[in-house]
Amino acid sequence: MKLSEEKWLIKKNNFEVSPVNETIFTLSNGYLGVRGTFEDLFFNETPGTYVAGIFDKSESQVKELVNLPYFWGLKIYLKYEYLNPFECEILDYKRILDMKQGLLYKEMRLKDKKNRITKIEGYRFLSHDNRNLALMKYKIVPENYKDRITLEYFIDGKTTNSTFHPKERVKHYFLSNHVVSDDYLYLEACTRDKNYKVGILSSVEAENYHSKVSRNYIDFIAQSIDIDPVPQNEYTINIYTSILDSRRYDNLHENNLKEIRKAKNIGIEKLLENHKKKLEKRWNVADIKIYGDEKADKALRFNIFSLLSLANPDDEMVSIGAKGLHGEGYKGHVFWDTEIFMLPFYIYEYPEAARSFLMYRYYTLDKARENAKKNGYQGAQYPWESADTGEEETPKWGEDYYGNKVRIWTGDMEYHITADIAFSIREYLRATDDWEFFLNYGAEIFFETARFWVSRAEYNKDKDRYEINKVIGPDEFHEHVKNNFYTNYLARWNIKEALKYINIIKEKFPESYNKISRKINLVESELKKWKEVSNKIFIPWNKTTHLIEQFEGYFKLEDKIITKYNEKNMPEWPENVDLTKLNKYQLIKQADVLMLMHLLSEEFDYETKKINFEYYEKRTMHKSSLSPSIYAIMGLTIGNHSKAYEHFLRTALVDLEDNQGNTALGLHAASAGGTWQAAIYGFGGMNIDKDEKLNFKPWLPPHWKSMEFNIYYKKKLFNVKITQNHIKINDLSSLNDK
Ligand code: BGC
Repeated sequence: MKLSEEKWLIKKNNFEVSPVNETIFTLSNGYLGVRGTFEDLFFNETPGTYVAGIFDKSESQVKELVNLPYFWGLKIYLKYEYLNPFECEILDYKRILDMKQGLLYKEMRLKDKKNRITKIEGYRFLSHDNRNLALMKYKIVPENYKDRITLEYFIDGKTTNSTFHPKERVKHYFLSNHVVSDDYLYLEACTRDKNYKVGILSSVEAENYHSKVSRNYIDFIAQSIDIDPVPQNEYTINIYTSILDSRRYDNLHENNLKEIRKAKNIGIEKLLENHKKKLEKRWNVADIKIYGDEKADKALRFNIFSLLSLANPDDEMVSIGAKGLHGEGYKGHVFWDTEIFMLPFYIYEYPEAARSFLMYRYYTLDKARENAKKNGYQGAQYPWESADTGEEETPKWGEDYYGNKVRIWTGDMEYHITADIAFSIREYLRATDDWEFFLNYGAEIFFETARFWVSRAEYNKDKDRYEINKVIGPDEFHEHVKNNFYTNYLARWNIKEALKYINIIKEKFPESYNKISRKINLVESELKKWKEVSNKIFIPWNKTTHLIEQFEGYFKLEDKIITKYNEKNMPEWPENVDLTKLNKYQLIKQADVLMLMHLLSEEFDYETKKINFEYYEKRTMHKSSLSPSIYAIMGLTIGNHSKAYEHFLRTALVDLEDNQGNTALGLHAASAGGTWQAAIYGFGGMNIDKDEKLNFKPWLPPHWKSMEFNIYYKKKLFNVKITQNHIKINDLSSLNDK
């Protein structure tokens, strides 16, 4: 197998069972995700097989992305003794994620206690060409023996969610069908609450074997192939798997079988070519090259690889969970992470994917309407955490930093997501000019979210202003707060922009306006109220000092400053902080005021950004991986380059160095998007001015020779090359595939 050049490879050269590596080596194609466990599935690994959109609740507190049967099982036996690295001398070992080819490669030479040396080499991938296909190929070479080799391929139907958490472990499916034949193995899982079915069909291709046997062990099905080998000969096994689910397909068994017959006819090598071609097309647009900083270059590429792996523009019914399809953290739920952190990447590098993620919010708009109504409001209130239907899925109970049971309030109070979604629709429209989307779907979301804010704002008669109280802003250390700057500002923005779009649509697309306003019952008298609320929403900003109070009363809290950093360069808690009472302090979890200054950068001057950066940076614990990227961008904006670079590495390496300590639970997908934003908006200095012109004001760290990337903007593709003292922009529209 020819691997790509070094800059495309993430390598691990020592054998270890590591849940962090399982996340890093996860393969995904937006439909399916499979964690990077070893094929053997050692007892202390945490396997994960996920299909986007397949959720189930059963005994768990809230719905979870279901951990489905594991289908990449392969064990090797020599004369019926299990060959495994724990009991062998490991002569050679390599595991490599080849990001260009989108595959996970393994090479291993093992010497067992009987001095038999076996070489195992091969790869697996989830096709980006046909997202239902998973393929694996291994070559086995018995170097110095003739003992019978048995290859046991298996599909394991015993998997559970939260495998190592006895109080939370849940089995979300039962097996509704098994078919075991010489030709193929078929296992069908059926979720317990909604009876979503997922059919997994695998067929093994091997040559020069002596015999094969297929077995049904009820919750585990397997096919074993015996080989009586000639030393030094190479024995190949190819495994074709097709996965289909009942949310999107019928006749799972039959259709899977058809897929597999087709796939076997094409052959694994050609399927790999097709997959690589599709991925290459994406890489040709989305790759960012940094010359002069190999570490940053590769880390950035890993983040882009992860984002490319999570998109599936053909499925508008799903969006990306906070941990991707890479693990069970946050139960596979979708947060503002998608719209505010990841979506910019898709808007500028893969607009079809951006559109499809926004369509997920359109399809869940009715649930957001119901949610608003249930809570006593109008319009649409998006849930803080969303799964398959768009209902509020945030758990009510969790654990604090000491493991004490605590009430989680985010589902009740973290309202800002509703404005975040509207914001992302504006971002998408401005960059793509996709008015078809806006007029048919986006505008409706925009108006319904504005309507929500108008009803959510509370009139304070004494002060003649509207307030939004009992909220949680982006910083989740402070709950039940009054007038969070970020929330109020973006709520006002949401209403004002909605009014602006109403005028534009009325004037330019009167038919569409009539259709939308009729559909959602929008009448002139209501708009008066919108204007009044948007003009009178209280924004806690004392312009004389430039420093913005994160919420009313924040400056009165006990002040604590961060002075120490741990070995991963992450902030340490200042002394004497009671971690059960974080509401008491000015310490914050993540960017909040600065977050808004990033989103609406043009509305704040340099001085204001600088003063707020300097104040909040010392008080931000970065306990959310959504934080460092924003400080990187804002640091560059105000010219604090060294801090900005540090923050950039924090966000870019969050998973590769596990600097939040929880990569085991899945990818930090928002941080991946934030890393892209830090590169493009930060170092590239890209921004859009009020005439919707694209501008670049780059700054590169002194050791960076150059940086190169491509951007889709208003249906054209541009190539941007930045060196220390030049910037060159080329129109590549002739290569534009759209
Ligand atoms: C952060 C949120 C984020 C969520 C999912 C939390 O820890 O505070 O901002 O949306 O994680 O990533």
